[in-house]
Amino acid sequence: MTVSVQRMTDLALADRRVMIREDLNVPVKDGIVTSDVRIRAAVPTIEHALKARARVILLAHLGRPEEGVPAEEFSLAPVAARLSELLGRNVRLEKSWLDGVKCEPGEVVLCENVRFNKGEKKNDERLSRRMAQLCDIFVMDAFGTAHRAEASTHGVARFAPVACAGPLLVNELVALETALENPARPMIAIVGGSKVSTKLTVLEALLAKVDQLIVGGGIANTFLAAAGHPVGKSLHEPDMIDIARKLMDESKRRDTGVAGGGSVIPLPTDVVVAREFSEQAEADVKPVGAVGQGEMILDIGPDTAERFAGLLARAGTIVWNGPLGVFEFDQFGEGTHTLAQAIARSPAFSLAGGGDTLAAIEKYQLEEDISYISTGGGAFLEFVEGKKLPAVAILEARAAGAGT
Ligand code: 3PG
Ligand code: MG
Repeated sequence: MTVSVQRMTDLALADRRVMIREDLNVPVKDGIVTSDVRIRAAVPTIEHALKARARVILLAHLGRPEEGVPAEEFSLAPVAARLSELLGRNVRLEKSWLDGVKCEPGEVVLCENVRFNKGEKKNDERLSRRMAQLCDIFVMDAFGTAHRAEASTHGVARFAPVACAGPLLVNELVALETALENPARPMIAIVGGSKVSTKLTVLEALLAKVDQLIVGGGIANTFLAAAGHPVGKSLHEPDMIDIARKLMDESKRRDTGVAGGGSVIPLPTDVVVAREFSEQAEADVKPVGAVGQGEMILDIGPDTAERFAGLLARAGTIVWNGPLGVFEFDQFGEGTHTLAQAIARSPAFSLAGGGDTLAAIEKYQLEEDISYISTGGGAFLEFVEGKKLPAVAILEARAAGAGT
């Protein structure tokens, strides 16, 4: 690994107050964790610290609550319950922890959602210092949140007596670096999901690296609108249509280099629509030009899915982040299912990341057939983009002897 950070596995942890930042931001429904991939990924790090007789204090976030307003729906209680099961021991959830956490050697305590604290997102120095005071060693292990410079991912690492990287973070960095160093061509990225504006700029950088870019979800709807197709009530961003059009125009000037591969940004030709967003909604397949005013696009259509699957079969490297449709509802999941199977079958080296993507891989039971599964969503994309992750940068600075 070209990054040089201090590693948790090189440190003596016995009796130390070891504060580990994990990414335990998982989907929760009715108080139950519905996909525990990220929790399972954190278990080896936690077990390592427990085995070393550390006092293990876990920091994590869930969702995007309003700071200073602890809300039950964003509580880490369901995560504590699942983690307790996985570790085979009770994980105490500490509601109020900023003034001190009682934790014995060999014990693990999970601090309630860091984002309930005012100043977390803004990387507030006072909050960061308060967190740093609670530990002897700060371990950054939350690869999925390493693209955020927040108090619990960055600020605390500035002020903790020791700041190092956990094994999950190190493994992710090494695996992604190795896979992306010299990718087999053609390289195809699939970027879907609903966070439109947050990903549209990432797309720009990806376009420069990949041979083809398949878009899905709300992002695809914005591209369809930019191509002049009606999108009805579909999730899309009118503000981003110009950027989408610019990306398509630029990409048209490029040769994909893929035999029979078509355009750099292949768009859906058919879609699955519904009149309402619900589990019971009736699904209709339509050509892209025929989406009605009262309809919303909730998946790519079967012809499109087949065409995209054909591209993936010929790929050398596949980078996948974000589902193609609302796969949580079966009638809008076929596009994601077909592509997930195509990725699994493809001889390409496949990298997948992102909460929803992992949930889809789990749902279709394809975990064994994807070459590398990352716990990161946004962080994964920013890494692929070539950006320096701030939470890693601060660990490098600390390793180099700099305080901030
Ligand atoms: C994620 O799920 O992408 C990470 O946990 C980061 O969450 P955020 O996008 O709310 O910062
Ligand atoms: Mg996410």
